[in-house]
Amino acid sequence: MSFLSVNLARVKPSPTVAITQTARELKEAGQDVIGLAAGEPDFDTPEHIKDAAIAAIHAGKTKYTAPDGIPELKRAICDKFRRENGLSYTPPQVSVSTGGKQVLYNALMATLNPGDEVIIPAPYWVSYPDMVLLAGGTPVIVETTLEDGFRITPEALEAAITPKTKWFLFNSPSNPTGAGYTRAQLGALTDVLLRHDHVWVMSDDMYEHLAYDDFTFCTPAEVEPKLYERTLTVNGVSKAYAMTGWRIGYAAGPEPLIAAMRKIQSQSTTNPCSISQWAAVEALNGPQDFLAERCAAFKARRNLVADMLNAAPGISCPVPEGAFYVYPSVAGCLGKTSAGGARIDTDEDFATALLAETGVAVVFGAAFGLSPYFRISYATSDDVLHEACSRIVRFCEGLTESPLRSA
Ligand SMILES: Cc1ncc(COP(=O)(O)O)c(C=O)c1O
Repeated sequence: MSFLSVNLARVKPSPTVAITQTARELKEAGQDVIGLAAGEPDFDTPEHIKDAAIAAIHAGKTKYTAPDGIPELKRAICDKFRRENGLSYTPPQVSVSTGGKQVLYNALMATLNPGDEVIIPAPYWVSYPDMVLLAGGTPVIVETTLEDGFRITPEALEAAITPKTKWFLFNSPSNPTGAGYTRAQLGALTDVLLRHDHVWVMSDDMYEHLAYDDFTFCTPAEVEPKLYERTLTVNGVSKAYAMTGWRIGYAAGPEPLIAAMRKIQSQSTTNPCSISQWAAVEALNGPQDFLAERCAAFKARRNLVADMLNAAPGISCPVPEGAFYVYPSVAGCLGKTSAGGARIDTDEDFATALLAETGVAVVFGAAFGLSPYFRISYATSDDVLHEACSRIVRFCEGLTESPLRSA
């Protein structure tokens, strides 16, 4: 019998982390690599947030804290939900963890029993299905389409619900597509959920502050107050405040669920880093004006990338509502051969040949559960994006019809 847990055999390592690591190694080996695989802002954490952390260190706030967050941070989170989402929560309804990832993980670990199903629209953030599997549950993947803007339809949601459904795991704006749900689109989904009172909603709002044009962010508990009692609203400071390395995420929801999540956390990581928690207090309570400036910069980058990619033969790139990703289709590149002689039959072939022949690292769509696409994270400088997209365009221009199609 294997020494390793059977649960481990059910999960795979994160492909985005693996591709980012490969790109880093190639770069260290001296190759001219542009990494567009990592999902983190290139901006630095704002100075006032760093200063709050330094002050916390000097004030000796370097000890264990309450397992799921210091009272000051819980209050700041309640204020944030009231101010930005019109949602009323009290501190016992709030949980703070080591990144949004641990929040989601705690919630799934706290609630899933063998056979419990979690509905996940595809393409999805790579960790969702594996976290569900690790927690002993069953991911139910519902594919969306480019034509539907990569948004799950109410009909598809309704059809996926069974008596075993425990959660609908929802993410808007989305990683990897950037797709955001309008209030009306979200309302159509919450109407379905109202008819199935055993189904809870886990809303991953990590990209809330990255919303462009006339798209206005909204979240299920706010759109349908009748779902408040069975919604866990998840958020964090990683993306909006450029704090990925600080590892602070949080959630608000019904008190018994939050208590169960606390129990898990108290027996695993104890508490998120005390210094990072003080930094997060400043992030949420401090000046917010830089968010709009950064959002404008991301929007310009989105436009640059989508415009350039749409000029590449074989690629079709939708212009998404939010986050810092685009998810172009490579359907028009399949069955072709690259200038370097690689046969392109899948989106993985495309990404592999692109990295080998141009040094541009992207993540292939199969990693997110929907092919044939790839994801670009455009959270990097305009110059770098321009160079990367130029290389992608040249790569696509170099594709030729293959004389033979493989079986
Ligand atoms: C959709 C989504 N949810 C959650 C997370 C986790 O964020 P954190 O870095 O706070 O753990 C990420 C990070 O990539 C994400 O893209």
